[in-house]
Amino acid sequence: MLKDEILLTLSSNSKEFTSGEDISDKLGISRAAVWKYIKTLREEGYIIESYSRKGYKLISSPNIFSVEGLKSSLVKNSLIKEILHYNTIDSTNDFCKNSSDTLKDGTLVLAETQTQGRGRFNRPWFSPKGTGIFCSIFLKPKLSPYDISKITSIICASIAKALLDMNIPISVKWPNDIYLDGKKLGGILTEMKCDMDEINYLIIGFGLNINQSKEDFPEDIDKTALSLKSYLNQDFNREEILVSILNNFEYFYKALLNNSDSKEAFQIIKDNSYVLNKEVIILKGKESIAGKVIDLGHNGELLLDINGKIEQIYSGEVSLRVKN
Ligand code: BTN
Repeated sequence: MLKDEILLTLSSNSKEFTSGEDISDKLGISRAAVWKYIKTLREEGYIIESYSRKGYKLISSPNIFSVEGLKSSLVKNSLIKEILHYNTIDSTNDFCKNSSDTLKDGTLVLAETQTQGRGRFNRPWFSPKGTGIFCSIFLKPKLSPYDISKITSIICASIAKALLDMNIPISVKWPNDIYLDGKKLGGILTEMKCDMDEINYLIIGFGLNINQSKEDFPEDIDKTALSLKSYLNQDFNREEILVSILNNFEYFYKALLNNSDSKEAFQIIKDNSYVLNKEVIILKGKESIAGKVIDLGHNGELLLDINGKIEQIYSGEVSLRVKN
């Protein structure tokens, strides 16, 4: 986007002024157009100084994601081909669903805040502005619908690895939650449209609480959720964390597509499991099954010991409670 290119030009020359003429020559647009984009950037919170003879100088950026910054930090030939960044959106998953006819395979939809962010079972997902990672990856993979649980596992492992690499002692609550200190730090909502044996498109949505203060959480959510900041008392760079997640995902996703292999991702989940060796209750609609989690299966399913009988539990429509 031209606006991002102007930003990149200004940030790479942030010690000096860049003239409007230089920008318009470089991008092949009129000086009036340059002015229009500068105006939009200012509205987004960028502080840009300007003098008629000197041009423009970037003084400070708002704490929002930069598409150019993200693109330049992703691995070469990343599967993320396009990044759409919104200040406000209803839900990044819903946006992908409603735009599925036009979105390219490998689009990342990222928002600073969501007005209708949602989790599994249509629970609301708290998405205060500029504080967390709220995004969805839109893909059209050649995979069978049966692979959907593997996809949830590999994004879960990607998030877990990014945080463990920062020495944050998270754990993974099967099938789709990231836990810290016994509370929820992040969650995943994988949705798809498929035929009998082919995935039409896949939406991998995830939310991660990063820079919310403890006071930001409404009382009911505060009991069960936390952010990195509320736990560790410091701000984190959301962009760095997102890049690390996306690059991990790239690695695990390619292993899945090329060799149908998710062993490494499953191992991360198992090594950092919140549920392994615990007594749990699996809820499916009005039904509930109690048992002990003894392992994860080859497809990321839970192996539950129910009075000596081993059952495989697939994530599907189930939710899991750890027994006290
Ligand atoms: C859960 O824990 O139930 C899953 C939460 C998923 C939340 C993310 S935030 C970005 C994306 N857009 C949504 O509306 N939901 C997911």
